[in-house]
Amino acid sequence: MKVEVPIRPFWYSDAWIFPKLITVVTTLDKEGRVNAAPYSHIMQFDVMAQTPRIMVGFRQDSHTFRNIVDTGEFVINCPSSDYLDDVMETARFYPDGTNELEHTRFTTIESRKVKPPSIAECPQIMECTVDEIVKLERSSGIVYANIEAIIMDEGLEQMKRAERIPAMNLPIGLGDQDRFEYFFARPSDVVAFELKETPRGIQAEGISTSMDWDVESMESLMQIPPMVREMVMTQVETFARGKGAETVELAHMTDLMAEVGMDSAVMARFGGKKD
Ligand SMILES: Cc1cc2nc3c(=O)[nH]c(=O)nc-3n(C[C@H](O)[C@H](O)[C@H](O)COP(=O)(O)O)c2cc1C
Repeated sequence: MKVEVPIRPFWYSDAWIFPKLITVVTTLDKEGRVNAAPYSHIMQFDVMAQTPRIMVGFRQDSHTFRNIVDTGEFVINCPSSDYLDDVMETARFYPDGTNELEHTRFTTIESRKVKPPSIAECPQIMECTVDEIVKLERSSGIVYANIEAIIMDEGLEQMKRAERIPAMNLPIGLGDQDRFEYFFARPSDVVAFELKETPRGIQAEGISTSMDWDVESMESLMQIPPMVREMVMTQVETFARGKGAETVELAHMTDLMAEVGMDSAVMARFGGKKD
């Protein structure tokens, strides 16, 4: 039997288990003083290379949100599970102008593209500037931010995911009990599942082009995962039509991909397995 649970403030934590990224966001206030606090309402929303963007949800009266409104810059630092006690230390309410990092083992390094410092001990860091801020009435302030730089500990960027996950050891946030007791998981029991190849017959089904595609471009389209294939097809056709073409050619696909920042290395991700 299922029961309906009342939706109250903080439903995302009290009534819902919502595994999340744990970060420490660093900002500067108008006087240039460092502020740091944990944040986990974070989601990528523009995955293209030209305009990479992320959205973050803040309490509007937090120092972090006010600093971001005032300065337009912040850094998202991802600590490993070994630093959870320091993360929790930065969550304590300190007066205006306090640098929470001074109460932790965290040390700072200069950021590359923005003024707020980055945290040296964090293996994965994102430097951001504000694109747009939406202040929800009596609720969160949402910051849509441009990703100016992604910084990693040297060596991590070379690792395959199976190796990088344990090397980074990022904690997974599992919410809190009454904003007092916070729960986390460590990635010690990671499982990987292989996405099985879609049978060729099904791959070809359900895709109806509105233009002719030459053999090469159709082969390339068929290598794109089924879940995004139709979207890619429509975009390529719009692009080819815009160029005055009657038949879609491979060059239309590659030119369009290059225009949205998907170079051949990114395209190779969509190569899939050939049988
Ligand atoms: C693990 C963790 C995750 C948190 N995530 C968020 C969040 O995503 N948004 C938010 O407004 N507050 C979040 N908080 C609460 C803030 O960190 C807390 O209110 C902090 O004191 C704000 O500090 P500041 O005023 O210096 O920005 C989180 C706290 C913890 C411990």
